[in-house]
Amino acid sequence: MSLKNWDNKTWLSSPSYIKSFNNFLLKQVKLNKNSQILDIGCGRGKILGSLSLKLSLKRKSTGIDIENHKDRDKRIIFKKIDALKFLKNNKKRFDLILLKQTIHLFKIKDIKTILKLSKTLLNPNGKIIIFTLDPINNEIPTFSIMRKKTEKSLNKRQENY
Ligand SMILES: C[S@@+](CC[C@H](N)C(=O)[O-])C[C@H]1O[C@@H](n2cnc3c(N)ncnc32)[C@H](O)[C@@H]1O
Repeated sequence: MSLKNWDNKTWLSSPSYIKSFNNFLLKQVKLNKNSQILDIGCGRGKILGSLSLKLSLKRKSTGIDIENHKDRDKRIIFKKIDALKFLKNNKKRFDLILLKQTIHLFKIKDIKTILKLSKTLLNPNGKIIIFTLDPINNEIPTFSIMRKKTEKSLNKRQENY
């Protein structure tokens, strides 16, 4: 599935959203200027770029995605690669592996492999953090046709699992 416009000049790429997301993230995991971070399905990599600046990271962090956006963040090492392929071949270790709004795009079999491989790539005390929408207990403000299409799309995804 191509997701080129997920965060294209929407609130998801707004500095205030990214700032508050990263503040929340740093309450969940201890990171410092020596940390290594991997963002799987990083999109334009703005979240990771902003986090790198906030932590004054000594080494650039890695963001991977199957889409290569022209305006992607230059403060990160970006790799245009499928998550499974990257995880199978990568030797680097990470203190945080982030999957934000990405895990639902994979089949359950692949999710299991992603998590298994990610665990092997963690430094001691490293964490995998997954952010995903709960498709049942959430309410999205919609108008009628949008609600129908959203429900259809969510049901389709659940069928894939
Ligand atoms: C909904 S967007 C989330 C982007 C970003 N993590 C965020 O929260 O703003 C999901 C991202 O996962 C990427 N993606 C989808 N399948 C992928 C795969 N097999 N390997 C790596 N990235 C993938 C998409 O291209 C897209 O950028």
